[in-house]
Amino acid sequence: MNDQYNSITWVENMLTGVASIDEQHQILVNMLNMAAIQLTAGSSRLQIEEIIRDLMSYALYHFDTEEELMVANAYPLEAQNKHFEEHRNFSATVAQLQSDIKQGKLITREELLSFLKGWLISHIFDTDKQLGKFLLASELRTTDSITDPPETSGANPAAPSAG
Ligand SMILES: [Fe+2]
Repeated sequence: MNDQYNSITWVENMLTGVASIDEQHQILVNMLNMAAIQLTAGSSRLQIEEIIRDLMSYALYHFDTEEELMVANAYPLEAQNKHFEEHRNFSATVAQLQSDIKQGKLITREELLSFLKGWLISHIFDTDKQLGKFLLASELRTTDSITDPPETSGANPAAPSAG
């Protein structure tokens, strides 16, 4: 059995600061770590296909969440395109992988897990954290405009002291 894959340890540094994104990232990390436990040298093609299908379907759901946030918060177009493209490339690679497996081309457990882990970690640390920074800043702007104190028209807000 190949035990070289090291599971991902969730570290605080992986947080983007956006609750919905961070929650989903943690689920993805857990799913990947679970897949590493489930996949053994003896896994059947069907088991491998099922594991990839489950991971992919959650990944797509997660991509939708991020993409909706980008559009809703007017994330700058260049960064948005780059981010969308990374999601599309990942989906295309996994689709290719699925078709290879269907056609009987073998991928080792190590190759599969290393690819998934490598992509997820680098995507979170680079592209997603960049998005998180932007969303937090725009959230702050929105909150500021809501909680701004009303203009005082020159009157002294301090209450006159009694006596
Ligand atoms: Fe992303």
